Amino acid sequence: MNYHFSDKILPLKPSAIREMFKYTENPNILSFGGGNPAPETFPIAEIRRISADILQNRYVEALQYGITEGYRPLRERLRSQLRELHNIGTDSDNVIIISGAQQAMDLVSKVMTNEGDTVLSEDPSFIGALNCFRSYNTNLAGVPMAEDGMDLAALEHAMKTQPNVRLLYMIPTFQNPTGITTSLEKRKKIYELICQYDVILIEDNPYGDLRYAGEEIPTFKSMDEEHRVIYVGSFSKIISPGIRLGYIVAPAEINAKLTVAKQAADVHTNMFFQMVVDQYLEEGNIDANIARACEIYSRKLNLMLDLIDEYFPKEVKTTRPQGGLFLWCDLPAEADGVKFADLALRHELAIVPGQTFMCRTNRPYPGFRLNFSMPSEADIRQGIPVMGQILKAYLADLQ
Ligand SMILES: Cc1ncc(COP(=O)(O)O)c(C=O)c1O
Repeated sequence: MNYHFSDKILPLKPSAIREMFKYTENPNILSFGGGNPAPETFPIAEIRRISADILQNRYVEALQYGITEGYRPLRERLRSQLRELHNIGTDSDNVIIISGAQQAMDLVSKVMTNEGDTVLSEDPSFIGALNCFRSYNTNLAGVPMAEDGMDLAALEHAMKTQPNVRLLYMIPTFQNPTGITTSLEKRKKIYELICQYDVILIEDNPYGDLRYAGEEIPTFKSMDEEHRVIYVGSFSKIISPGIRLGYIVAPAEINAKLTVAKQAADVHTNMFFQMVVDQYLEEGNIDANIARACEIYSRKLNLMLDLIDEYFPKEVKTTRPQGGLFLWCDLPAEADGVKFADLALRHELAIVPGQTFMCRTNRPYPGFRLNFSMPSEADIRQGIPVMGQILKAYLADLQ
């Protein structure tokens, strides 16, 4: 058969990370590639108990169709807690529940862009979001990153010169893939720029709660006087990704349109797990779960950084995140992350090459991402020194 696939799907390639899972099924391979949260952070005892209770006592609501905006008690709880604790949301904002943060990128693209409009993004960035913007045939334009967030001159240049800039996509805190956090000073300047150039910002913040050092930095949403920030949160990294629960805080006018788009996409997010999460939040144990996750991840991150300092060649420049699940390694300009990732795989180490995360994936990139949430401490102790040896050999061969 000669199937006629749409122009939307043809430019999309299977995710290099999903492809890599094929190899990581080999038990001998140590993976620093994926980005899953560690299963020991799932609050399984509570989920088991609350689930049984809901299925016993409130099963009709849990198993019946619900409203598209989401389970009302959860929406109201999130609205008041985000406002009280993080100054997120105003009277003109509301909350809708979505099927994972990933759905926000799809709904916002559908609602806010036409084909050919520009979406600006940090470069590199999260592949799931980039692929979503690509699938709507937008003009995806990357803005290079510095240690404290995007290069502001490049951002302003892109806003001035790219056609119809509609959206700026950012992960300002513990970015995937770099681990970089945008400084407060840069946040203020970026906010001024989006106001000046009439751009809507998607602030994607799935890692904000996973802070292991340093002070919380105010979100863009908390400074959103002009009502142009769509804030996206997720329970994937602080409860479980399999339950597929996230939320959007945005001006009610935007959320009304996103709700229509969501109705067409999946009617509503899984009711049962909305009720489980609402009850879990009601019981007040989430802070303890986050603290436990932070303890596990910060130990792994510090171990990885110490071993990198000891074993990686000095030409490799590594970010030193204060939270999240990832760090980023830049190699000298003549290196190629894809070639290095192939070499590492031959030594039974999986990493994701930097090129995969770029807005333009057709150019080699001299770097790669490392994940520290999934490998055990023993895996990190075993894998990082070996990676250091392979890096030394690879860089020596380039000379
Ligand atoms: C930056 C970023 N945004 C969104 C997501 C998707 O999250 P969710 O599981 O809530 O759809 C991820 C997942 O890794 C991510 O890294």
